[in-house]
Amino acid sequence: MRKAINKAVFPVAGMGTRFLPATKANPKEMLPIVDKPLIQYAAEEAVRAGIKELIFVTSSSKRAIEDHFDKNYELETELEKKGKHELLRIVQEVVPPDVTCVYVRQPEALGLGHAVLCAGPVVGDDPFAVILADDLINCNGNHVLGQMISVFNDRGCSILGVEEVPPEDTDKYGIVDPEESHGRITHVRNIVEKPAPADARSNLAVVGRYILTPAIFAHLENIPRGAGGEIQLTDAIERLLQDEQVLAYRFEGKRYDCGNKLGYLQATVELALEHPELREAFLEYLETEFGSAKKLRAIND
Ligand code: UTP
Repeated sequence: MRKAINKAVFPVAGMGTRFLPATKANPKEMLPIVDKPLIQYAAEEAVRAGIKELIFVTSSSKRAIEDHFDKNYELETELEKKGKHELLRIVQEVVPPDVTCVYVRQPEALGLGHAVLCAGPVVGDDPFAVILADDLINCNGNHVLGQMISVFNDRGCSILGVEEVPPEDTDKYGIVDPEESHGRITHVRNIVEKPAPADARSNLAVVGRYILTPAIFAHLENIPRGAGGEIQLTDAIERLLQDEQVLAYRFEGKRYDCGNKLGYLQATVELALEHPELREAFLEYLETEFGSAKKLRAIND
């Protein structure tokens, strides 16, 4: 019987240098899009996909993430006393009662691969998901991790969430060297970290969603430091490919790279336009300040 995906790893120990000074004392993953921090969008996506154990790979400057997912007794007592039941519900429902949060430390920011390796003892011998919270993916309810778990349940191998990027941007991503494709699924021959556009074998870029078999850990332990002196997840996947099939899955949904300022602003504007409390007032503001908001009105109408 195929093992179910019950665990998701959230690497949140990076330095967030592209967002300094905002990230000097606050984790990048706690930056809000409208009224929810990025890490909560990621956790909700995992929970909706049926994940029961959320494993956060943190560092000493990320304690706010632990506090966010913990009970805040004082706040809840105050909200209760003041009869603010809706706010109380919002605060209490950050994590459902049947979901467990586990925190492991990455002592040094040695790269994404190293962060995933730090979660190894908690993941154990099970297939698992990896979610990068700064890649926020809006799917109108059909959450990406859920889409990828369906593919895993069918195929039983590692799955990489990919999207097509402009050919001139291949040097910003891990890029898939593809074999044959069937619909949204492509067989992966190889994966190359940040190839120059002239060398890229496709424009299929790996973005922040992975389902990995536990065999990845042996490769993460044994690979030398790669690009930027970091232990690269891409390098370990390249080795995994020598023993196992890996598939790329072109997910349905729109990705925002919230690790950079432009992507963050785009996500903020577009999610604000979907927010039931804000939509009309925000449209009115945009119309008044910036002229016709006809196109904006068309978003998610
Ligand atoms: P990024 O490279 O996007 O994040 O890593 P960063 O290093 O925090 O950001 P910049 O480039 O300095 O602005 C993708 C994800 O991997 C995590 C990050 O927290 C982010 O969620 N990560 C990265 C780790 O957990 N540990 C690392 O050593 C590196």
